[in-house]
Amino acid sequence: MDTNPKRANAMDAYWMPFTANRHFKRNPRMIAGAEGMYYTTSEGKKVLDGTAGLWCVNAGHAAPRITEAVKNQMTELDYAPAFQMGHPKAFELANRLAELAPGDLNHVFFTNSGSESVETALKIALAYHKAKGNASRTRLIGREKGYHGVNFGGIAVGGIVNNRRHFGSLLTGVDHLRHTHDLERNAYSQGEAEHGVELAEDLVRLIELHGAETIAAVIVEPMAGSAGVILPPKGYLKRLREITREHGILLIFDEVITAYGRLGRAFGADYYGVEPDMITTAKGLTNGVIPMGAVMISSEIHDAFMTGPDHMIELFHGYTYSGNPVACAAALAALDTYREEELFERAASLEGYWAEAMFSLKGLPHVKDIRCAGLVGAVELEPVADMPTKRALDVYLRAWDKGAHLRTTGDIIAMSPPLIIEKQEIDELAGILAESLIA
Ligand SMILES: Cc1ncc(COP(=O)(O)O)c(C=O)c1O
Repeated sequence: MDTNPKRANAMDAYWMPFTANRHFKRNPRMIAGAEGMYYTTSEGKKVLDGTAGLWCVNAGHAAPRITEAVKNQMTELDYAPAFQMGHPKAFELANRLAELAPGDLNHVFFTNSGSESVETALKIALAYHKAKGNASRTRLIGREKGYHGVNFGGIAVGGIVNNRRHFGSLLTGVDHLRHTHDLERNAYSQGEAEHGVELAEDLVRLIELHGAETIAAVIVEPMAGSAGVILPPKGYLKRLREITREHGILLIFDEVITAYGRLGRAFGADYYGVEPDMITTAKGLTNGVIPMGAVMISSEIHDAFMTGPDHMIELFHGYTYSGNPVACAAALAALDTYREEELFERAASLEGYWAEAMFSLKGLPHVKDIRCAGLVGAVELEPVADMPTKRALDVYLRAWDKGAHLRTTGDIIAMSPPLIIEKQEIDELAGILAESLIA
């Protein structure tokens, strides 16, 4: 490895995120281009994108309408201050998102990432209760194995141990529901898992322990993506909704992965038929091309802030790049693309074919579970003794050599292709994974 930072191709200066830096830099995998379903590597090899980038390129790479919109916006209006100032596309985008969002989620707060969307939602939850005169509601409830990004609020409510253990005491006043991963009862599930609705009663336990009047919000991913595609048990999300409503606790769905068609509907909330009080999103909002996130917020929450003298700022929160014009242009074009190419419907119509392809891997070496929902699939592997993550990493590297990009989390292979995937590409992806599992 060239470690001289003065040379352009030296690799040492870039500290790569969530990456085994030394391993990668000894054997780098470099992407030079991308179009549609495929990456081109720096050696000119084509690689099928089995993960839509990082669960974000839902319309496929270099979607022409989005590229064009970004180019045009750069010359029309590159930046506008986000505070005490507006530009038309931010309002247009907020309207479009409010229209798309379920129920009375009629208000939108813009951020730059999933992590920031989570922080925003958690802060709004706390400030909402304060605004309503319930200042004792300060506790936040997450769930074991939950992933809510990497900022302090997100890792505090999150439940992935390695994302928490190195970073001190995090936020105080946080508790966690038990996770719903249950291989013994639920192996080989699609959409929802058969067993585990009773785990929602864990929230009742926490309410009995802490007192409902101390709890501000519960945040869960409707389908937990980053922990390895953990499906909600049948009836579980509905039950969480009932309990939160009964006790005046807000329910936040973190849909950074599940929003914008990943499950064949606009939101996971639509797919699972449960309406939360807030939805956090990012990723597919701009098809991944410009960083942007959005939090959808109910009228009940929003309106609680719209009191007091009207020259006063109602919420002391926001980012320099909230509603950045270029990001807004990318998001509007992404929404147009999703609608015109009927990509959400397309994902729904491919769900069965996708699941069949995934389940065809059952019985291959070391496979101990397969889970699917919408255009998401996961294959859980038996770990190598005393070497957790090694099995999945080896499979991932073999698949890369054979021309497919997958994602690993622990010993789980996760897949979430662009929604433009064709049936023969689903076959290609499953075929490469099968070969990579065998050798
Ligand atoms: C459910 C969920 N929340 C939050 C995040 C964090 O998003 P970002 O990496 O854009 O900060 C992710 C990222 O994968 C996610 O899956």
